[in-house]
Amino acid sequence: MKIDNFINTDTKNILLHRDQLNNYLTKQNKSLVTIEIDLTNSCNQRCPQCTFGDYHTGLFLNRTVLDRLIETIPEIGVKGMIITGGGEPCLHKDLGYFVKAVSHLGVDITLTTNGQFVERHFDDLLNGLKRIRVSIDAMTPASYKYTHGMEERDFHKVIENLRNLADEKKKRGASIDIGVSFMICEPNASEVMSAIEFYREIGVNFLHFKPMQLWDKVNKKYYHKFYPMVEQVTSELKSFTQGDFRVSISRENYYKQNLDRIKYNICHGAFFDMIIGADASVYTCCHFKYNPDFCYGNIASDGLNDILKKIKADVTKECFKDCKMDALNQLIEYGMLNPSELLDASVSIDRDKLPLGSKWL
Ligand SMILES: C[S@@+](CC[C@H](N)C(=O)[O-])C[C@H]1O[C@@H](n2cnc3c(N)ncnc32)[C@H](O)[C@@H]1O
Ligand code: SF4
Ligand code: SF4
Repeated sequence: MKIDNFINTDTKNILLHRDQLNNYLTKQNKSLVTIEIDLTNSCNQRCPQCTFGDYHTGLFLNRTVLDRLIETIPEIGVKGMIITGGGEPCLHKDLGYFVKAVSHLGVDITLTTNGQFVERHFDDLLNGLKRIRVSIDAMTPASYKYTHGMEERDFHKVIENLRNLADEKKKRGASIDIGVSFMICEPNASEVMSAIEFYREIGVNFLHFKPMQLWDKVNKKYYHKFYPMVEQVTSELKSFTQGDFRVSISRENYYKQNLDRIKYNICHGAFFDMIIGADASVYTCCHFKYNPDFCYGNIASDGLNDILKKIKADVTKECFKDCKMDALNQLIEYGMLNPSELLDASVSIDRDKLPLGSKWL
């Protein structure tokens, strides 16, 4: 087996961070690349399959905690921040303030939003974000109702907001990368091809497809009913990447992998990406957010470096196959055995053309 077998859309971004990789592989030092933060776990929408639907408990990080975080970011040398959520970040009144302050520290910020209230923070988002990814998961009001549980007027509002962002970006010559996220499931699978034209015409830079995951409440596991469908409908999508417009698919290797998968006992990815919930607690991974068994500290009271030292990321029986870090964990596990192969891997990565999902790990 060679390193090339492990480098794919879901993993290659880590090669942008060779110092951190080197620290981890050769000195067992942990150096964060990104922080993923929920400013709130409240949401205005009603996506029936929302992975965080059970955690919409109305929490908002307060200004004191945000200021404390802003102050400590330079100490830990983090390169990127993903503002996403157990909820909808645009509902937080300090979103614009936070984006402005963090971007002034030289940290690249990606915002994942449902797009319904971006106008509340419009200038700060346009000026401060590296990237905005609007989760729409539809191309028609009918499929939007299925994926977001919202009405026709809400769909049109989100599309109008997206258009305003794209138009204003052009007018101002802003460098923000604007994209749409499209979760594939049965009702919207037939819209995939037309969605490419639709969103390209609006003027976005990227369209990111991913399979909708379904949560099996009884067995406490995701099941991947839609993966074969994604495989089918996305097989030719990559050829639609042209110039400034990119199409990407996450978990694209799930079915293609040669199935002699490497087993690992440590979730290596957890040491590169810190997960902060809207309760100010830090968790091992986004799948275990708000689960006290996977909580390692609280940014309201503890220092980020101290928390990072405390994080344990053993793979437990609660971890599941094909979780968000699986592909990266496979790559790093291989790299632990063959460090020079990983550290010297030559992949040409044009940072601005990366097919990004919600993270650049
Ligand atoms: C939980 S949302 C939070 C941010 C914001 N409210 C939004 O919808 O973009 C973050 C991402 O999780 C994705 N997501 C939610 N439920 C999902 C599911 N069942 N399968 C796959 N992705 C899902 C959404 O599409 C979104 O891109
Ligand atoms: S908009 Fe985002 S957080 Fe809200 S219900 Fe939908 S996926 Fe969940
Ligand atoms: S579920 Fe995946 S990402 Fe979470 S701790 Fe386990 S291996 Fe890591």
